[in-house]
Amino acid sequence: MTAQTPSTKDRVVIFDTTLRDGEQCPGATMTFDEKLEVADFLDAMGVDIIEAGFPIASDGDFEAVTAISRRIKNATVCGLARAGMKDIDRAGEAVKHAARPRIHSFLSTSPVHMKYKLQKEPAEVLDMVVAAVTRARNWVDDVEWSAEDGTRTEFDFLCRCVDAAIKAGATTINIPDTVGYTTPDEYRALFRAVRENVVNSDKAVFSVHCHNDLGLAVANTLAGLEGGARQVECTLNGIGERAGNAALEEIVMAIKTRSDVLPYETGIDASMLNRASKLVAAATSFPVQYNKAIVGRNAFAHESGIHQDGMLKHTQTYEIMTPESVGVTKTSLVMGKHSGRAAFRDKLKQLGYELGENQLQDAFTRMKALADRKKHIYDEDIEALVDEHIASGQDRVKVVALTVIAGTMGPQSATLTLDVEGVHKTVQATGNGPVDAAFNAIHQIMPHDAKLALYQVHAVTEGTDAQAEVSVRLEDRQTGKSVTGRAADPDTMVASAKAYIGALNKLDARRKSQHAQHAVA
Ligand code: KIV
Ligand code: ZN
Repeated sequence: MTAQTPSTKDRVVIFDTTLRDGEQCPGATMTFDEKLEVADFLDAMGVDIIEAGFPIASDGDFEAVTAISRRIKNATVCGLARAGMKDIDRAGEAVKHAARPRIHSFLSTSPVHMKYKLQKEPAEVLDMVVAAVTRARNWVDDVEWSAEDGTRTEFDFLCRCVDAAIKAGATTINIPDTVGYTTPDEYRALFRAVRENVVNSDKAVFSVHCHNDLGLAVANTLAGLEGGARQVECTLNGIGERAGNAALEEIVMAIKTRSDVLPYETGIDASMLNRASKLVAAATSFPVQYNKAIVGRNAFAHESGIHQDGMLKHTQTYEIMTPESVGVTKTSLVMGKHSGRAAFRDKLKQLGYELGENQLQDAFTRMKALADRKKHIYDEDIEALVDEHIASGQDRVKVVALTVIAGTMGPQSATLTLDVEGVHKTVQATGNGPVDAAFNAIHQIMPHDAKLALYQVHAVTEGTDAQAEVSVRLEDRQTGKSVTGRAADPDTMVASAKAYIGALNKLDARRKSQHAQHAVA
């Protein structure tokens, strides 16, 4: 056996805030179940710290952080809190169930934030830092303190706050570029200077947290590491406030691909990045831009003749990392009407699905049906049909048939048949457009008071015969909680009806389980 050479690279801690900063941005809210699913995936992928939410922000956030704390096996689970005692206690209550709990408390330190937002003098802010960190340390040993708007904070005051936080027991110090204002040189120098000036700086891990307002978030993050930070705060797909946060997948792959100039390593299994990105895009209904680095659909696509020619001669001509290294299997067209079960099973395996015999047979039948209607079956089509099928396994209501009349001659109408627990029910409805007509028909068969909070369509693959993937989010007016239904079909109207029914099924299942819990209690 050969002895392993110890790594000479510094380990960088990956702190993922998809479920907090990411979820905080307009249009990216996730349901409780979706948050758990994302948290499980982050843990499996090797994220070191999962910032699971902001427990004081809402009961939903508190419940999600509590549930994530209870289930996560490897990662540290972190809850965010402002400097107030109530905030910190709420975060402490939520993370106390975690195997490795952390409280992350933040307070603004820049002149503009202190004067207008907090309306407090620097001396008061300094006292609040100490009080917040001390309170958090009563709950947990692992406390992070953040100087909000750190990059626009006066240097001496920033150092005093950092010094006070470390003395009060903070084990991680985060200096965020809250408004995405800094530049790489400036941020690198800031970390070096703070670490040199604060006497006990070696008692804490320094952390970067960059927003992307000037498109510099990842560059600034890497510069912060050069300045001595060893924790990176980031999100999948770069989602987050305004222009977003530094993207986890970009940082991880920059470190891996340019190890010659970035002597660091992370614990992330990069081959899971593509699926993680898809999971977050689906959960948030926030599509990934086509040309997004690492996880965009064009990230490994070569269109021009010159590039294709180069790629055929040697892949390194135009690829600096392999698609496989981030979990992208090359899109292929081999699945179709003539494909056999064995090849289909093999394809599913490549895509990361292990289905039981019955599920495999069902998925195979559905793939054949799709192949009759669509010329090319791409990997994404297969993923969509399997995901949808798994999700609809125990549905009470199913779409049996839908016919719509659309076009300029209105009124648009829909004739819909649903299978409601084995009984077929058919109605006809009109509406302001075919989608509205189909949804009105659903309403007639399944009267409900849920509010339509989101309706979104995108094409899974290209071409006019592409599958449409539809997300429908319904909000339960009684509890304020949301559920999301998703469905894919080459017919946008059918996908829309199936997604709506999917959401209603979830709502129904949730209400039933709540009633059951009340009956037991
Ligand atoms: O951007 C920011 O400053 C934050 C803090 C809460 C860390 O998100
Ligand atoms: Zn932020």
